[in-house]
Amino acid sequence: MGVLAEIHVLTLFPDLFDGFLRESILGKALADGRLAVRLLDFRDFAEGKHRSVDDVPYGGGSGMVLMPGPLVAALETLPPGTRKILLTPQGRPFDQAAAARLAGEPRIALCCGRYEGFDERIRKHVDEELSLGDFVMQGGEVAAMAVIEAVVRLLPGVLHNADSPAEESFAQGLLEYPQYTRPREFRGREVPEVLVSGHHEQIRRWRRREALRRTRDRRPDLLARLAATAEDRELLAELDREAAAGRGPGRVDVALVHHPVRARTGETIATSVTNLDIHDIARASRTYGVAAYHLVTPIALQRELVETVAAHWLEGESGGRVPQRADALRLVRTAAALGDVVETIRREAGAAPLCVATSADPRGRPTVGWAKLRGRLAAETRPVLLVFGTGWGLADEALDAADLLLEPIAGPTDYNHLSVRVAAGVTLDRLFGRAGR
Ligand SMILES: C[S@@+](CC[C@H](N)C(=O)[O-])C[C@H]1O[C@@H](n2cnc3c(N)ncnc32)[C@H](O)[C@@H]1O
Repeated sequence: MGVLAEIHVLTLFPDLFDGFLRESILGKALADGRLAVRLLDFRDFAEGKHRSVDDVPYGGGSGMVLMPGPLVAALETLPPGTRKILLTPQGRPFDQAAAARLAGEPRIALCCGRYEGFDERIRKHVDEELSLGDFVMQGGEVAAMAVIEAVVRLLPGVLHNADSPAEESFAQGLLEYPQYTRPREFRGREVPEVLVSGHHEQIRRWRRREALRRTRDRRPDLLARLAATAEDRELLAELDREAAAGRGPGRVDVALVHHPVRARTGETIATSVTNLDIHDIARASRTYGVAAYHLVTPIALQRELVETVAAHWLEGESGGRVPQRADALRLVRTAAALGDVVETIRREAGAAPLCVATSADPRGRPTVGWAKLRGRLAAETRPVLLVFGTGWGLADEALDAADLLLEPIAGPTDYNHLSVRVAAGVTLDRLFGRAGR
């Protein structure tokens, strides 16, 4: 594959490109000979006295349809190895990845439609179809210009600063971080302090975090497809903590313990992870601003299973198909023991968490009431870890290791066997839900 050197534009309105090709970076690339643009009026390939390129649609209907003959005849004059592209609202949405791909082609041809669009048989004569977005324009010329603009600026030597395309929106799967220039203060708004600090590493980290924030707020679909690095996950957790800050504790984590828990018989066992627990508690965690949801099991294969399930919704083809689900499953982490979760939080948040255990059966231990804990959490500055048990509940050693044990959830009946998913949902809502404010 060579670097793009030639663009052929097949259009009925070549004059539309006059000013566009003369100015700025494009004009310069053409003048330098880095690039050649050839405008091909496919009316020149039409037959008959009137050189018609369109006709009424078979089957009736409004408007005129572009006949296949002239456009296909024009396409057949192109040099071999030209990638032929039809511009149509029915094409794949044009994006930065497509621009980068086309910049690596030696030669492309952009076919601009008009009227009601192309005779269906034209599609067999092109390599791909691109759309500028979900709207309909009068013709393909503006779409061709957009493709040319996006592609040409990626060609080597066209932009002065070779780094800037790599930093921009979409290049790394994120929107770009906020940019500032002079003056330092504009109508009472200052440039963020870190940007004038001269600390390159701090600036880099700030920019990455703000790019993640902006993408999360505006384009969660992009974030869902992101192959997040360990630093990205850390920065996203930081953003979650920040969002949670207005609510009380610096950071809230949830742990679902599979060992040590009790069996029905009272002995201590390890339970198996379930897909339902992974999904439902991740979704509840995301809803209530939890920073991370830790599934705790000493069995390595079980941890791998959790990671596989989460990765399925975050990566590959399925990743990003349901951005809301990816948004929740991004919180999922695994740990071999509860102590490891505490250590992780201490490292990330800079303080050990207040551990709050939950149980349907405190077995004589003192508990803290809901209202009291809610009040305490509103003033708590330490991170908080809510611990839930699977099986028949957390084993004695896990209850004893906690700082507080929460009053059991109770209904008006004596049936006391909520699923841990429901218990987690009820707990998060009682402690952090808006309704309880
Ligand atoms: C009025 S449109 C025809 C739309 C066509 N009847 C349809 O519904 O798909 C005329 C031409 O404008 C161009 N065009 C319009 N909207 C476009 C878009 N969003 N992306 C790319 N090209 C577009 C195409 O070349 C199209 O053939």
